[in-house]
Amino acid sequence: MSEKITVSIIKADVGGWPGHALVHPELKIIARNELEKAKGKDIIDYYVTNCGDDLELVMTHRKGVDDEEIHALAWNTFLKATEKAKELKLYGAGQDLLSDAFSGNIKGMGPGVAEMEFTERKAEPIVTFFMDKTEPGAFNLPIYKMFADPFNTIGLVIDPSAIQGYRFEVWDIQEHKKVMMDCPEEMYSMLALIGAKSRYVIKRVYPREGGKLPLDEPVAAISTEKLYEIAGEYVGKDDPVALVRAQSGLPALGEVLEPFSFPHLVSGWMRGSHNGPLMPVSQCNAKCTRFDGPPRVVALGFQLANGRLVGPVDLFDDPGFDNSRQMAKDTADYMRRHGPFEPHRLPLADMEYTTLPKVLSKLKGRFEKIE
Ligand code: 13P
Ligand code: 13P
Ligand code: MG
Ligand code: MG
Repeated sequence: MSEKITVSIIKADVGGWPGHALVHPELKIIARNELEKAKGKDIIDYYVTNCGDDLELVMTHRKGVDDEEIHALAWNTFLKATEKAKELKLYGAGQDLLSDAFSGNIKGMGPGVAEMEFTERKAEPIVTFFMDKTEPGAFNLPIYKMFADPFNTIGLVIDPSAIQGYRFEVWDIQEHKKVMMDCPEEMYSMLALIGAKSRYVIKRVYPREGGKLPLDEPVAAISTEKLYEIAGEYVGKDDPVALVRAQSGLPALGEVLEPFSFPHLVSGWMRGSHNGPLMPVSQCNAKCTRFDGPPRVVALGFQLANGRLVGPVDLFDDPGFDNSRQMAKDTADYMRRHGPFEPHRLPLADMEYTTLPKVLSKLKGRFEKIE
């Protein structure tokens, strides 16, 4: 058992109510019951919520990342919730559980995972982020702004324990490779990668020498599971989650939230096939209805107290984010008027795993050579 604390966010879509709008409350009750049974044994504390149709489990423990018992607990919780989803005939019951048997690690089996192990500080504020109707690359822009953009995070300029910048672990999710990049020095070349957000995704952020924090303990982690890579076809989007630590040598809480004052365009809206604005919402508005969206993000804040999750505070439940929401609504109207046209609909390369190729293949024989 480690001295350090581990926070694990594990999520899955195990059935939508109705369609892909929401998680049914009974599924959340089942998840709470399962995690309550494990509390004081495998886990210290937990919180269960949803963003749209994604069931989100936040767990604290001392077993480190990739722990078999913690992953099994999440897997079995999703199985129990799936049984109920089937009984209620919810939409896409068991959608994200792509395997029949648990193999020791939930990664690669459908659910998304963001977890990190670290030394709990004297005061340890954390922010848990949950997104629906988008993909892991949707976190690139906000995570970049939090940890590398001085116009977002004034701490990078005025805080002597943040001025050295941060180290980013960027994954190429097509080639299954990773690269470590130090900002600010490598900021421009890092942007050359992470601007291509469907391929290069920020997986973790680390402190750098000169700061206050241990160099091997991450300060942010993002889920990067790509479901179509596992399933071979579109089976719902890889709605991502992330965990970010704040304050004392890290971005302040408000600097962690500030990137969401701009509803940037992300992919994953309607049938996983459209670009649209990412709207920050309070938990009660985490319902994806308009054109199955628009894509949205919820942020819940906690203080950790020896692994106890003191919270949550619903951080986007603040009129300060109303302009971002208004901009998201206006942008949604603007994008929607393109109907089936790009760049609202995703380019062909990104439609490869949807049902579009089946439609196009029927037209193949109709084409004649142009003289
Ligand atoms: P307080 O003075 O309220 O602790 O705030 C400090 C701070 O820097 C917030 O960004
Ligand atoms: P989810 O990925 O949230 O299940 O949504 C699927 C979809 O395509 C909704 O239009
Ligand atoms: Mg769904
Ligand atoms: Mg979803």
